[in-house]
Amino acid sequence: MKKIYVAMSADLIHPGHINIIEQARQYGEVTIGLLTDKAIASYKRLPFLAYEQRKAVVANIKGVKDVIPQETLDYVPNLKRIRPDFVIHGDDWKKGVQSETRQRVILVLKEWGGKLIEIPYTKDISSTKLNNAIKEVGTTPGLRMSRLKRLLDAKPIVRILEVHNGLSGLIVENVKIRKNTIEQEFDGMWLSSLADSLAKGKPDIECVDLTSRLNTINEVMEVTTKPIIFDGDTGGIPEHFVFYVKTLERLGVSAIIIEDKTGLKKNSLFGTDVFQVQDSIKSFSYKISKGKKAQITNDFMIIARIESMILGKGVNDAINRAKAYIDAGADGIMIHSSKKDPDEIFNFCDKYSKIRGRVPLVAVPTTYCAIKENSLINAGVNIVIYGNHLLRSAYPAMVKTAESILTHSRSYEASSKYCTPVNEIITLIPGSK
Ligand code: SPV
Ligand code: MG
Repeated sequence: MKKIYVAMSADLIHPGHINIIEQARQYGEVTIGLLTDKAIASYKRLPFLAYEQRKAVVANIKGVKDVIPQETLDYVPNLKRIRPDFVIHGDDWKKGVQSETRQRVILVLKEWGGKLIEIPYTKDISSTKLNNAIKEVGTTPGLRMSRLKRLLDAKPIVRILEVHNGLSGLIVENVKIRKNTIEQEFDGMWLSSLADSLAKGKPDIECVDLTSRLNTINEVMEVTTKPIIFDGDTGGIPEHFVFYVKTLERLGVSAIIIEDKTGLKKNSLFGTDVFQVQDSIKSFSYKISKGKKAQITNDFMIIARIESMILGKGVNDAINRAKAYIDAGADGIMIHSSKKDPDEIFNFCDKYSKIRGRVPLVAVPTTYCAIKENSLINAGVNIVIYGNHLLRSAYPAMVKTAESILTHSRSYEASSKYCTPVNEIITLIPGSK
């Protein structure tokens, strides 16, 4: 029997996949190289189904002898291991982003006299259309919640952007760009207490109550499928915090971040310009452990946010706290700084990387915004949160529009300069017509 190798992601199985496998088995014994979550996330969004789920589907398709993980987009490592007689692929990869991968396949097969066989691409199947259809169906609380941990496993850095209502949620859900061969999008949403408060015209001092914050979550959840990280401020007193955890977990929020401050909380970006009190290690650790005991699933995460550098207590204090909070059960650590220069963040990251039992690290580069994601990855940051940028960018556009109408006693100037055209805005949301 000849050895046949077929690589696929197989997230949404359609007749195109069946056709390839059907044709492949005419040539011999078919091994499927199933792309891992990591391999897929390296060039596009994380698949809907996890590797093991996709494997269970593919392994049961007629003609499949074996399913093995393909850990990279590049076929070469698997091909060298298996040395198949034939690789089968649709003929749609001759041009475009996959053409280089194709060349490498042809070249390596030559080493042992293997051949690439290309079969006509199955027309009228659009994965993009299938993806959109799935997005329209929505998601379940459990699927949405577990997605953050899957992303942490699959991506060098998980990219999160602030949302404060349904519309901003839709932007995070749908905005996409292509950088060379790679599709870039946001992985999830940050329900910022600053943005949620400001959008309601309130100060960021925990005066927007949980019921109101839950309304924002619901609004966002109704129109999106991506995971949500909730900014839980101080988390309240431990006895109240357990209810935050239960409620958020039930809704399908993936994580809550609570900061180690006590008393009247002010926004961290004030630094030491305002009076703020850091909680004791003992008391905050107690709150974390109460929260951990209250959660039901393994998917929900409680992330401890350390304010030592915000309050001028330095990196060593932050590291001591990180150790204690991890011991108390924290699933992640968020380190914050209000400096323009990222040096103290890097200093923390360096020391943090040596901690035993290290958990995922979150950074919020608002003041040190010149930093690029690659530098954060190199420093060991696992989640980057762009904390307030959708609200901050909407605000000046709205003020300019209001001023322009007052200045010109008409809306003509503002309409062309600062506003989305009417015909675009009325059809922005599907189903408007
Ligand atoms: C928020 O977005 O509400 C935060 C981050 O807590 S920061 O504003 O930087 O404190
Ligand atoms: Mg906040």
